[in-house]
Amino acid sequence: MRTLGIWLYAVVFAAGLRMGVFVPPRLSSEFLQTLGIDPGERVPITRPLLPYVQQLFLQIEEKQDDLRMYSDRDPRVLFYNPESHSSEGLLEFDLSGAPIDGNVTKIEVAFTGHTHRQISLQITSPYRPGIRVSSFHTEQGHLADITNLAMDQVLNTTLNLFVSVSKSTHQVRHLNPILAVFLDINVSLLHSVRRKRFVPTNRNSTINMETAETLNYCRLKEWTVDFRDLGWYEKFIQRPITYQANICDGTCPVAPMDPYFNATNHVLLKFRFNKRLCCSPIEYMSQTLIFINNNNITAIQTVRGMSVSRCGCR
Ligand SMILES: *[C@@H]1O[C@H](CO)[C@@H](O)[C@H](O)[C@H]1NC(C)=O
Ligand SMILES: *[C@@H]1O[C@H](CO)[C@@H](O)[C@H](O)[C@H]1NC(C)=O
Ligand SMILES: *[C@@H]1O[C@H](CO)[C@@H](O)[C@H](O)[C@H]1NC(C)=O
Ligand SMILES: *[C@@H]1O[C@H](CO)[C@@H](O)[C@H](O)[C@H]1NC(C)=O
Ligand SMILES: *[C@@H]1O[C@H](CO)[C@@H](O)[C@H](O)[C@H]1NC(C)=O
Ligand SMILES: *[C@@H]1O[C@H](CO)[C@@H](O)[C@H](O)[C@H]1NC(C)=O
Repeated sequence: MRTLGIWLYAVVFAAGLRMGVFVPPRLSSEFLQTLGIDPGERVPITRPLLPYVQQLFLQIEEKQDDLRMYSDRDPRVLFYNPESHSSEGLLEFDLSGAPIDGNVTKIEVAFTGHTHRQISLQITSPYRPGIRVSSFHTEQGHLADITNLAMDQVLNTTLNLFVSVSKSTHQVRHLNPILAVFLDINVSLLHSVRRKRFVPTNRNSTINMETAETLNYCRLKEWTVDFRDLGWYEKFIQRPITYQANICDGTCPVAPMDPYFNATNHVLLKFRFNKRLCCSPIEYMSQTLIFINNNNITAIQTVRGMSVSRCGCR
C-alpha cells in the first residue's frame, strides 16, 4: 500500500511537472531544503547576478560531471560580500552566515566594480606578512587567487584582507569585492581542456535507436525542466532557467535478452518468475545551479542525480 502511495505520488508529481501547473508542496520543499533554502517566506531575488558569478557557473556547468571529488558531497562555490564597501584598505568578510564545511580547494577574490585594465591590485593578509598577491584583469573584473594567502583564515568567522592599488594615477573607488570559496571541487580540472566523457556502448546489441523508436521500446527521452513553471526561477534559483532532466519511457519486452535493455542478473531472475519489468533510469548526471540560501549567501552547487543519462529494463 505504501509503495503504491509513493508510486502514485511520483506519477502525479511527474505529470504535474510536465504540465507545469501543480507541485506537491512537500516534495518540492524537501528538494529546496537539501540546498539550504527555506521555501517558506521568500520574496523574489532582487540581487543582480554578477557577470563574475555567471562566468564561473558556465565554467563549472561545462565540466560538472568531472569536478566531483566525493560521492557524497556536491562541488560548490560560496560567495561572501564584505562587511563594508571600502575602496582601498581593510576588507572584512563575514563567514559566519555559511560555515565552510568540506575541503577548500581554492579561494578567490574578485573586484567586480572596476574593470579598468590599467590598474593592479595588491592583496595581503594580516596573518601572512611577506605574501603579496596581484590581481589580473578579466572581462568580469579583477581577480586574485588568494588560496595560499587566506587558507589559514577560512575556519575563522571573519576573513581579513588588505587591498592596495598600484600603477594608477587616479584614485580607485567602488571595487565591489566578492570572496569566492571553492569546496570539494577538483579545480585543476576546471581550467583544463574538457576531456571526452566515456559512454559505454552495448557492442552486441541488435537494437538501434531507430528500431527502439519504431517498436516503442524503453529509451531515454529528452525532457526539459523549466524552473519558471515551478515558480522557482528568480525566487529560489537564479540559473539555469531550464535544464535537460530527461525521462525513461517505453515498453520492456517480456524477455529483455538483447544487451540494449541493460538488464541485470536480477532482471533475468524476475523474468524466470514472470515479474513485470519497468523502463527505469539506471544512471544519473549532475546539474549545476546558482541560488541564494537562507543566510543570504549566493552559492553555485553541482547537485547530483538531477538528470537521467541512461535507461534500462529493471
Ligand atoms: C580533504 O582532502 C584531504 C586529502 O587531500 C583528505 O585527507 C581530507 O580528509 C579531506 N577533508 C575532508 C573534510 O574530507
Ligand atoms: C584567524 O586565523 C588566524 C590564522 O590561523 C589566527 O591567527 C587568528 O587568531 C584567527 N582570528 C580569529 C579572530 O579567530
Ligand atoms: C583532480 O583531477 C586530476 C586530473 O584528472 C587528478 O589527477 C587528481 O587526482 C584529482 N584530484 C582529486 C583530489 O580528486
Ligand atoms: C559479443 O559476441 C561475441 C560473439 O558471439 C562474444 O564472443 C562476445 O563475448 C560478446 N561481447 C559482449 C560484450 O557481450
Ligand atoms: C541580502 O543581501 C542583499 C545584498 O547582497 C541585501 O540588500 C539584503 O538586505 C540582504 N538581506 C538580508 C535578509 O540580509
Ligand atoms: C543501455 O545503455 C546503452 C549504453 O549507454 C544505451 O545506448 C542504451 O540506450 C541503453 N538502453 C536503454 C533501454 O535505454
